Parts: sequence; structure tokens; C-alpha cells
Amino acid sequence: MTTPLRIALAAATVVLAPAFTAGQTAAPAARDGRSACLEVIAHRGASGYLPEHTLPAYALGYGQGAGWIEPDVVLTADRVAIALHDVTLDRTTDVAERYPDRAREDGRYYAADFTFAELERLRVVESRPGRFPHTTFRVPRLTEVLDLVEGLNRTTGRRAGVYPELKSPDIQPGLGDAVLDALAGYDLPVLIQSFDANALAALVTDLPRVQLITSPAQLEPAGLDAIAGYAVAIGAPTILIYRDPAIVARAHERDLAVHAYTLRADQLAPGFDSLAAEVEALLAAGVDAVFTDHPDQVLALAAAHGAACSPASEAGAEPR
Ligand code: G3P
Ligand code: CA
Repeated sequence: MTTPLRIALAAATVVLAPAFTAGQTAAPAARDGRSACLEVIAHRGASGYLPEHTLPAYALGYGQGAGWIEPDVVLTADRVAIALHDVTLDRTTDVAERYPDRAREDGRYYAADFTFAELERLRVVESRPGRFPHTTFRVPRLTEVLDLVEGLNRTTGRRAGVYPELKSPDIQPGLGDAVLDALAGYDLPVLIQSFDANALAALVTDLPRVQLITSPAQLEPAGLDAIAGYAVAIGAPTILIYRDPAIVARAHERDLAVHAYTLRADQLAPGFDSLAAEVEALLAAGVDAVFTDHPDQVLALAAAHGAACSPASEAGAEPR
């Protein structure tokens, strides 16, 4: 069975890499009439193990077998697209130490106030307790992330994709075009996501788009109908799927895949006592993909149910 996510992959390939269709992984048999397998997205890289949005975290996510690598994207003062979750730098870098006099009146340090050359002096800090203890890594350009994934695809024979998120495009004019410009130089499967429906719908591209969901109202029939007009998938919080698994079928009826965010081994959803239980609930609901800080663990749990997607491969090679 062809799943919505596979359709999304094919759509991306038409634009960026016509040869990819021949090398794409065959979709396994469907589970109970639902999606064939669970795609795993390395959320901010393998951010449960290394600081989010660093090249080592992306590389680890790739090495753990994730099919997709997720950079969030914001712009610097000199319009360089960088991988960063917040439009501010203070949660995830040592900016307050390096540039103590560069905060705005609200006390925050905005990426838009720094050139990329200035950001290269920063070191990324881990913001979640109990995770990686050192401040070794720096903030990368989006193109460095693309280099990494495309290069690893070359050296491994796999065909992982990138899944950039437009962060706050309403206050970052030109962000969408900057991301599209960066992607244009690469041969990669791509999914573009945003919480901002206006910006996502207005994007001038044939690349497949994913609408991130913040409100249950967006998951009602009228909301899904509107999203289906421009997107191939929704990104929905796990908690909404656990509360109402029927939203998955409603989305699938409209050819929208469902990508759940975010599974974390060290921060379970309320009411769950293990990551395994969360994975089982998402598989039972029929979701197509999941964002996770711990790709290795989610892949292993999905594989135990015979539901881990095999990585797509180059040149028609069989998936491992
Ligand atoms: O993009 C999916 C998920 O990552 C959305 O949440 O805040 O981690 O970007 P956030
Ligand atoms: Ca994100």
C-alpha cells in the first residue's frame, strides 16, 4: 500500500531528484489497513544524547537510523539560515557570557541581532537537565546540515531526508525563501514544516509541506480540509492523538499523513509509564511518522512490532 508519507517522498523527489523513485524503499504491507510502517524523525537531531541542533546531534540521529533529520531554522542579521529552535539564543547557547551587552530591553538575545560570524563564537549549551554535560559544539548554518545529510547519504548508500521547520516566519520575512534557496543546491528528500499556516500555504514551491498543529480545532473536518489544500501531512502533538486516535483516520481520509511530536525517553507523556507504551499507542492509532529525541530507542520499539520503516536506499539497493 502506498502511504501518504511515501507520496510525500515521491513528490519531493520529482523536484529535487528524479532518480530517487527507483531507489526508494518498497512500502511494507499495511498494518490493519493503516500505515505500513513508522518513519522516525531525529528531532533537533538525536537531541536526547547530544545538544539539539548541533552537527554531532544530527550525525548521531542519522547513524541511529532515522529516516529524517529535523533542523528548525531561523535567520541571522546577515540573512544566514541557521539551525536553531528559538528566535533567541539564550536558552541554548552561552551568548550571555560572550556578548553580555547585546540583550534587548526584554533581556533576551535575538539571533536576528547577530551576524553569522558573531554566532560562530558561541557554544551550544544543553538546556535539559541530565543530558549532555559539555559545551563543545557550535550553531550550524542550514547548509552545513544539508551537506552532512547529503554527504552521509553518499557514503552510506542510504537516502535519508531533511525536514526543516520555518520558525516564526511572521517575524522573519524571507525565511521561507532563504530555506528554499538553501535546499535548491542539494539532492535530498525534503519535507517543509511550520506552525504558521499562512506562511506554509503561501510558500512558492512544489516541495511537500507539513502543517504543524497547535489546536484541536485544526483537527476537525473543516480544519483538515483546509490543510489538505496545500499540505501532505500534519504534525500533531502526541497528547492530542492519545486523546482522540480517530484524528488519524480523519487525516488519512484526506490523504494527509500524520506525524506525531515529540517522543522523549526522559520525558514521557502524562499517563504513560514507558516509551514502549507510547510507541504502542501511536502504532495502534496508525500514525505514519514520529519526531523523537531518541531515534534509536523508538526504532527498536517499532521494530519489535515489525513496524520500523527500512531506510530508503540509493540506486535501487534493497533496504537493510
Ligand atoms: O516540528 C515538530 C516539533 O519539533 C514541533 O515542536 O517546538 O520541537 O519545534 P518543536
Ligand atoms: Ca521543530
